[in-house]
Order: sequence, then structure tokens, then C-alpha cells
Amino acid sequence: MVDFENILYEKADGVATITLNRPKALNALNTAVMTDVRAAMQDAEADESIRVVVLTGTGGKAFCAGADIPELQSKSPIEARNWSMWLQMITREMEAMQTPIIAKINGFCLGGGLEVAMACDFRIASDKSTFGQPEINLGVIPGAGGTQRLTRLVGKTKSLEINMLGQGALFDAAEAARLNLINCVVPVDELDAKVDEYIKKLKGLSAATVGIIKLAVNKGIEMDLDRALYYEAECFGTAASTEDFKEGTSAFLEKRKPDFKGK
Ligand code: CAA
Repeated sequence: MVDFENILYEKADGVATITLNRPKALNALNTAVMTDVRAAMQDAEADESIRVVVLTGTGGKAFCAGADIPELQSKSPIEARNWSMWLQMITREMEAMQTPIIAKINGFCLGGGLEVAMACDFRIASDKSTFGQPEINLGVIPGAGGTQRLTRLVGKTKSLEINMLGQGALFDAAEAARLNLINCVVPVDELDAKVDEYIKKLKGLSAATVGIIKLAVNKGIEMDLDRALYYEAECFGTAASTEDFKEGTSAFLEKRKPDFKGK
């Protein structure tokens, strides 16, 4: 087990849980927090026993209220540009990981918090959650993908509204689900159980194929359709070369449950 200063990191039963741990600052993201998050993600990805990563926040009030505003204010323009690129690199790395990542959201999910959540594969939120990109109220803009991933997820009309109106366009979890920004919303006391449901389903599948699908979607969405479909065909061929493909098809024909090995 690796120890971190700014996050809690636990590994159990094939699940790595990363908990942002700055409750007094509503789990705001600073350089130290994101350095730890990145290292924990890398540790989880390198550990073959880990099937799912869960990213969440401590304190019950916030998943994450965004970038740490005092740290942000201290940056020169070039430092701010470089920091934005570094955050974008980390979120891109999350999208390139084979291991699926679930954002477990309870409370404020704002600014950089929403941006990191949008780089996860699943977003499951409690009905006590609030979403938005309030950077504009600070005189700045989202710098970790908010203007881009949000647009891809909810479309241009809503993305412009959420990004341009900032605090004036915060929205609740029901609206986030309606916008397809999150997978589902549940009462707060059912959040753990709902996340466990997703984990159980993912663990029953081939880790290899889950990873291939993740890349097919995350890489393909940035390509034109012809290239994306060709990439899908290549991914299909890779999936068909796995032992799990033989196992999955044999299990179906033999009318038994597959025993996937992730190979
Ligand atoms: N950074 C640092 N500290 C923060 C913070 C942030 N983003 N958000 C909240 N905090 C701190 C507050 O300063 C406060 O600390 P103190 O008790 O020491 O004063 C503590 O967390 C609790 O916050 P509030 O008292 O404000 O709690 P509230 O319930 O009244 O309001 C809130 C909650 C609406 C989330 C409000 O705190 C807020 O608007 N926070 C800022 C949200 C924001 O603007 N996020 C975008 C940041 S910029 C960004 O993310 C850039 C990027 O793209 C990478």
C-alpha cells in the first residue's frame, strides 16, 4: 500500500479507491493533490489485480469544488498555461488507462472537479450533488478540459450555457443525468450500493476487452467516422485475439458462465 499526503488510497478486492482528502477546502485540487492522484492512478493501472478505480471525495459535502483558488491566484500567466496543460495531460492519461474509472460524486462537483470527473468512464452521483463550471465568476475559464469535454458530453448549447454563465448555471444531479453528463443519480444512502453494482458488473467481464472498448471509444471519438470505424475494426481484431474471446464464445456455446482471465 502506498501512502499519500493529500489523498486516501486503498486497494481491496480488485478495487482501488482514491479519495480526495482536503475536506476543509472542499477537496479543491492543487498541484500536490493532483500529483498524488496521478501517482495513485499509475499504481492502480500497473497492478494487474485491480479491476476498477473509484475516485471520490471525503467530507460528505464535496466531490471536489474545483482548482485550489489561492494556488491558482498565485500563478503567472505562463505558469497558469503550463498548469492547465499538466492537468489536461493527467486527464488524458486517465482516459488512456485500461482500468475503468468510476467517479463517485456526493456534493459539489465544480470546475476542475467536474473536469476530472468527466475524464472518468462512469459518473455516479448522489441526489445531494451540484454540478457546474463556475470559473468565469473568477475571471478565468476551465483549464482541465471543461470547455471541450463538456461540449462533447452534453452538446454545444448546454456547454456554452454552463461555461458562460458559471455560478448562474449550476445544476443538480437530476439535471446532470438528463443531460447525459452522469450515468445515474441515486439517493445519497444508496450511492455506495450503486457504485458496487457497477463494480460487480465490470469485474464479471474480461478486463482485456473492457480496456479495449474504453480505448475504442476514447480514441475513436476524436477521429472522423471512416478512421474511427477502421480503428474499431482493429480493436475488434485485437479483442478476437484474446483468450477471453475463446472463453466467452465457448461458454456461450456450452451454456455455462465464462471464466475470463483478462488475457
Ligand atoms: N479552492 C480553495 N478553497 C475552496 C474552494 C476552492 N475551489 N472552494 C471552497 N473552498 C474553501 C472555502 O474557501 C472555505 O474555506 P474557509 O472555511 O477556510 O473559508 C471552505 O472551502 C468551505 O467553502 P464555503 O464556505 O465557500 O462553502 P459554501 O457551502 O458556502 O459554498 C461553494 C460552497 C459554492 C462550492 C463555494 O465554496 C465555491 O463557490 N467554491 C469555489 C468554486 C469554484 O469557483 N471552482 C472553480 C475553481 S477554478 C478551476 O477549477 C479552474 C480549472 O478549470 C482547473
